[in-house]
Amino acid sequence: MQFRRIKGTQDILPEEVGKWQYVENTIRAEMAVFNYRECRTPVFEQTELFARGIGESTDIVGKEMYTFLDRGKKSLTLKPEMTAPIVRAFLENNLGSLTPLTKLYYIAPLFRQENPQAGRLRQFHQFGAEVLGSGAPELDAEIIMLAMQIYKKLGLKSLDLIVNSVGDPESRANYRVLLQKYIKPLLAQYCQDCQNRYRTNPLRILDCKVESCRRLNADAPQLIDSLTSAAEKHFTTVKRILAENDIPHTLNPYLVRGLDYYTHTVFEITSARLGAQDALCGGGRYDLLAKQLGGTDTPAVGFAAGIERLLMVIDAEHGQSMQKDDLDVYLCALGPQAFRTSVKWTQKIRALGLRTDRDYFGRSMKAQLRDANRQSAKVVLILGDNELKDNEFSVKDMQNSTQQLVPFSEIENFLLNFFKK
Ligand code: HAM
Repeated sequence: MQFRRIKGTQDILPEEVGKWQYVENTIRAEMAVFNYRECRTPVFEQTELFARGIGESTDIVGKEMYTFLDRGKKSLTLKPEMTAPIVRAFLENNLGSLTPLTKLYYIAPLFRQENPQAGRLRQFHQFGAEVLGSGAPELDAEIIMLAMQIYKKLGLKSLDLIVNSVGDPESRANYRVLLQKYIKPLLAQYCQDCQNRYRTNPLRILDCKVESCRRLNADAPQLIDSLTSAAEKHFTTVKRILAENDIPHTLNPYLVRGLDYYTHTVFEITSARLGAQDALCGGGRYDLLAKQLGGTDTPAVGFAAGIERLLMVIDAEHGQSMQKDDLDVYLCALGPQAFRTSVKWTQKIRALGLRTDRDYFGRSMKAQLRDANRQSAKVVLILGDNELKDNEFSVKDMQNSTQQLVPFSEIENFLLNFFKK
């Protein structure tokens, strides 16, 4: 074959798609219960939106974006995340003028040029929610509880919720001084990336995955100890609400996340079922982003969660039991006359809302029954010369292998009753 899919992308084949639909339906139902409404944004945006929104010194902007010049020499980027596009859409469409609080959700494909490995793709999918218009800590907690509720509905176990606060700008300015003071005498021992971060964005040093940097970071002062009293109060309220709602969580003072827009609460949900890429979901508050993108001051909080990683956990915990696209009815036609008549019957049975298919090759009875079995049909209708002559079907219940004759005139009612059971 001449063409292959691009490295780090996946075909979602019919065998898999049932699981995707099940997960997407569950997400949509739960988003509706929490009163979030769907928002869809274009697949590409001006590069500047992400550079300014996510931060120039982040890995995403620095090395992972699919950026290209269009024919008009404009720099465009395939969206690597949804928060900046959602804020752009919120501002551009003036959604804040309609209601004081805007609750949005999305399910979307995203693009990051990372090194592909299990759970890390170049085109992947996220579901997420963003609520814009309030700084209330109750919403930080709601966003976390919404993500947890979706995982609960999907039957996920062994999840860990890690929380931290990166405070307000004042907390961070205080902390930046303390952190640089700690790192300065050790700077030569840090990796080259961290040495660059020291000047551009020292907080990101705490997120470094290099083992030697992690060891050096272990004794660093913690941001959580530099929070202003307002920031501390906000975070205490979020933790209290989580505790009151029986959502276990752990404080990780080193959690800073890979995007620059966060203020106050940040969190991640991880699963022990995932390997090195163990983050299922990440999010937090981003009160300054709307202003940074040229809009009005709009406090906001949200989360985003990888769907491929979620499916890996579902597979590990439930096996394949979620595929639900088995056939209801298979029509087995024997001989040219039956072959012709079965077109009409297939249509009639489909009109009842039953998942129905038939033979298209004029195969033998044995081959057709094998096909019905392969598709896990629950009922097989057999139409041969005898049945045609007597205006009836031989109906085979595939679960208990019983067979009976049902007249044409009664078959629709028979099937409706059968599937009501
Ligand atoms: P993020 O941590 O970059 O946050 O991504 C969120 C989730 O997307 C990750 O926890 C992971 O499950 C999934 N993910 C990220 N990159 C990949 C990849 N290359 N392959 C597969 N899955 C991946 C954000 O995107 C923020 N916008 C979250 C947010 C929303 N913050 C506030 N609102």
